[in-house]
Amino acid sequence: MVPSCSNFSRQKEIVDLILLNQKRDYSRFDLSLAAEAFAPSNIALIKYWGKRDEVLNLPLTNSLSISLPGKGAWTQVSLREKEDQILLNGEVVDPKMAFARRMQDFLDLFRFNTDLAYRIETKINIPVAAGLASSACGFAALVLALDRFYGWTLSNRALSILARLGSGSACRSIESGWMEWHSGGREDGMDSFAQPLNIDWSEFRMGLILVSEEKKSISSRAAMKQTVMSSPRYSKWPKRVDLDLKTLKQALSAKDFQSLGEVVERNADEMHALMREAVPSIDFSLPQTRVYQERIRQLRKAGLSIYYTQDAGPNLKVLYLARDEKTLLDCIPKLEPIFHEHKDHVLKST
Ligand code: DP6
Repeated sequence: MVPSCSNFSRQKEIVDLILLNQKRDYSRFDLSLAAEAFAPSNIALIKYWGKRDEVLNLPLTNSLSISLPGKGAWTQVSLREKEDQILLNGEVVDPKMAFARRMQDFLDLFRFNTDLAYRIETKINIPVAAGLASSACGFAALVLALDRFYGWTLSNRALSILARLGSGSACRSIESGWMEWHSGGREDGMDSFAQPLNIDWSEFRMGLILVSEEKKSISSRAAMKQTVMSSPRYSKWPKRVDLDLKTLKQALSAKDFQSLGEVVERNADEMHALMREAVPSIDFSLPQTRVYQERIRQLRKAGLSIYYTQDAGPNLKVLYLARDEKTLLDCIPKLEPIFHEHKDHVLKST
């Protein structure tokens, strides 16, 4: 196993490379300063499931997501004396908790004034364990807040690379809207970042079926690794993703909702099939997950345009068009709209 200090230095090299031209006197950043930023949560429609580099979170394939307007993380960064303090939704997080440890490991990459520690206050307006990518928006908001705090004004590409070091899918939360994460091919990952796609589909909607808010028994990071290492058909996944991405992009440019829904659902189903075939087998679905999947298939048979996607958890994200929302809310009372039309979701790329 690679010792963790060498993992740290590989990540630190990337941070140093990105901040190379930033000449700052870090001793003048004191306890009186604070900066805040928001990053939206993103839901993958074509999934990231497998890494070519586990330290730099470099993926084996591209992936494509949509961000949830107004839903995500607000993070405030300031400095304090003594040890770091991390607050989540108003409560101090126990520094021994996995969440705090991951944050602190990430903050170790940005300790410019060794006399001071960080105070990180994050507010997330989505259920934290509902599979709505709370860690993705959390790391992205932290990177955006650090950028503001130190006044780096880095490009979105550089910010996306930094966020990826915290959690792969966080690189798709630096900007809003439809985002494609390029796997890249370089060993240092400087070509692996997410970029917005110029798509404006005002009819597109997404809803959540919250089956359970229980904490997952296995993290997405561990499940991904176990799938890559032991799932017998994993070698076919990158080709599948390439084809699915092509189909999805065609569907997006033709605004062909049926084709979009079919490919998104198939991609998620295939990711979960690979996990079930892993050794030991991983199954994120609960009986209620399967009940709702069947309900969605039945509604389709009855003529409604409705599809689902599922991440590393039991909850379902449901895709539909605005015109069907009322009917669907009647058919599935548990469905909670989480994506409404928003005018500003195609943001300027830098
Ligand atoms: C199922 O980004 O959480 O949501 O890079 O190890 O932090 P790490 O993994 P993470 O994995 C997300 C997996 C997924 C699919 C996706 O978002 O593309």
